[in-house]
Order: sequence, then structure tokens, then C-alpha cells
Amino acid sequence: MSLEAINLSPRVGAEIKADVETLVGGEFSSEIRDLLENRGVIVFRQINLTDEQQVAFTRTLGTIVDEGENYIYKVTMDPEVTATAEYLKGAFYWHIDGTMQNVPVLASLLSGRRLSPTGGQTEFSNTYAAYDDLPQDDKEEIASLEVVHSLAATQFYVKPEPTYAELQEWQRKGTNTLPLVWTHRSGRKSLVIGSTASHVVGMTFEKSQALLVRLRDWATQPQFVYRHEWSVGDLVIWDNTGTMHRALHYDLDSGRMMHRTKLQGEEPFAT
Ligand SMILES: [Fe+2]
Repeated sequence: MSLEAINLSPRVGAEIKADVETLVGGEFSSEIRDLLENRGVIVFRQINLTDEQQVAFTRTLGTIVDEGENYIYKVTMDPEVTATAEYLKGAFYWHIDGTMQNVPVLASLLSGRRLSPTGGQTEFSNTYAAYDDLPQDDKEEIASLEVVHSLAATQFYVKPEPTYAELQEWQRKGTNTLPLVWTHRSGRKSLVIGSTASHVVGMTFEKSQALLVRLRDWATQPQFVYRHEWSVGDLVIWDNTGTMHRALHYDLDSGRMMHRTKLQGEEPFAT
């Protein structure tokens, strides 16, 4: 038996049709890993995994991250369920998870459990394809640039006018300097940008801002983006090392609930 996969657009996204037993059995784990790296996003429509099945499937693909309850982290804006709900509002802006660490998570797996009646789609941008298609002049200009990432940078999108105390709280999380172009062990290159990118090292504020906005704008053009329209029971996996993602706005009181598992990172941004 082979895996049935179809591309969702020319440059990003694939859909796999498989039954739960096959996925949890792990028979196709290396094919799925390869597809994930090549396509950025894999969709399993209305597969309706239980939490236990999601955890078991995640384990077939790598090392599961221990977070949430029994490895399931509940993505919800309800602070009674998830204490860090406030920070999740940063997810409405293009970002890569884990830019404050040197080894970002490899991938996230998200199950749609309860949806908002409007909005709440998740968009993914293929940052390998976006790099590959850059004009040669741009590739040369950015080849050795470094970018400072911070939690504060992303929080300014959510709360543009923080109190001094709030700013200090954000700044306590520190900064992380990363290459703008990530050369992966495979030799492939991707852009490391998004809402956590504060500024380019050694550039004026104006030039730095112009470059970061221009690259984000470039990378989120339609040909590099897959937008997932959720149905309850869908499972979506994305390669966090070769994509950016964001959620489209939805009613924060809608009760939207996603169950997430994560795969531990295997490769640092820079060696
Ligand atoms: Fe995220």
C-alpha cells in the first residue's frame, strides 16, 4: 500500500487521505516526514483523531514535546482553560514558533475541535519557496544579515501602547539573534522573519523596518500561501522550520478550541 497524497497548490500544502489505524501504525512515518518538509503543510480532512490517537500519531513522526495535559495543549482564548491565552493573540500575525530558542520546534499538529462561526482560518506561508523565488540581488543583499527577535516585538502588534510595566515584563523575556536566511542541514534555505523579528543588526531603524516588511510582504504572496478552512475533526501539520503561520481573526468569545501536539526541534537556526 502507498500513501495517497495530493498537492493543494503548486508551492505549498498537501492533503493525505489515510485511515487512523494506518497513521497511528507508523508505517508511513518517513514518507510523511519527507512530504512535510517538501510541502510545508499536510492536511488530513475530518480524520477525527481522539487525543490519544493524536499523541500516538505524533510519536510516529519524532519526539513529542511534553506540554499541556498528557501532551495535548489546548489552543483557546479562554483564560480559564489556558492561562497564557493573552499571548495567543500574537498568533493573528505572521510568525514562526520558537524564534526565542536556538532550536525551534520541528512541527505542530493541530486538531479542530470547536470552530468559530466566522474567521479562524489558519494560513501558512512556505518560507523555502519564498526564499527560492527571491531575485538574485536580494539573495546577495540578505545572505549574511542577522535579525534580533523578541517577544516584545510581537506583543507590540497585540498591544501597541503598553504601560511601562508591561513593556518591562515583555523585555524580561530577552532577545535572540538569528540569521535572516537559515541554511538547513539539507542545504535548502528559508527565510526567518515574522512578527518576532525586531530589527536587523547594524542597520538604521528605517532600513531595517523596510527590509523586514518587504520580505514578509514577499513571502506572504498568494503563490506561497495555503489557507486552511477548518472543519471539525481536521488535523493539520506544519513544518515550523520552513513556514510561517497565522490565524485569521475570529470572535474571541466563540469558544474556538484546537488541540495541539508538537514535535521537538532537531536542528538549530544556525550552527
Ligand atoms: Fe504559532
